[in-house]
Amino acid sequence: MMRLYDNPASPFCRKVRALLIETGQMDEVEILPALGHALDTDAMPLAENPLGKIPVLTRDEGPALYDSRVICRYLDARARANLYPETRQWEVLTLEATAEGIMDAAVLMVYEIRCRPEDERSPAWIEAQWDKIERALDAVNARWMSHLTGKLTMGQIAMGCALGYLDFRHAGRTWRQGRGALAAWEAEFARRPAMQDTAPGR
Ligand code: BEZ
Repeated sequence: MMRLYDNPASPFCRKVRALLIETGQMDEVEILPALGHALDTDAMPLAENPLGKIPVLTRDEGPALYDSRVICRYLDARARANLYPETRQWEVLTLEATAEGIMDAAVLMVYEIRCRPEDERSPAWIEAQWDKIERALDAVNARWMSHLTGKLTMGQIAMGCALGYLDFRHAGRTWRQGRGALAAWEAEFARRPAMQDTAPGR
């Protein structure tokens, strides 16, 4: 039995859970909550991932796997799901990397407030994270929409999870404004059972 160290709020973990549902592998994984962070590592799987980050996937036949991109590649290969089709694998991987960059910046914004005392926070640094997200969203809306349509890929799942996290933690920032194509895609993609079943805050 595989085990997934998970936090239901984490968009990185959500990617893995959505993939597990989309590829029919959820019954083969035990989900273990790991609700810590860099300043509170007691609950984190340090023996499996020395970085103390989640998701981490343990397997019977080899060492634990991390990070989410490695886990998703592994689970895709395991199920022969072809979520990284060879004819456009570099585009799918870059779309996935763009989504992960959005998640990274959005999570850092949350952690700056959650983990730092008020007098150590940097509003300029927080805004610089949001600027990264805005640039990435503009690029996806302008140049990547053709890769978001068509047969399901890991790039699409990752982007759906990144946008869901913006709604979950940064709803006041109105990411949809001026990005009608991406907003319409997200509204449709969010209806997939795998997205409904993994939505944060459920
Ligand atoms: C959150 O609560 O927003 C969160 C938790 C774990 C990882 C990333 C984000």
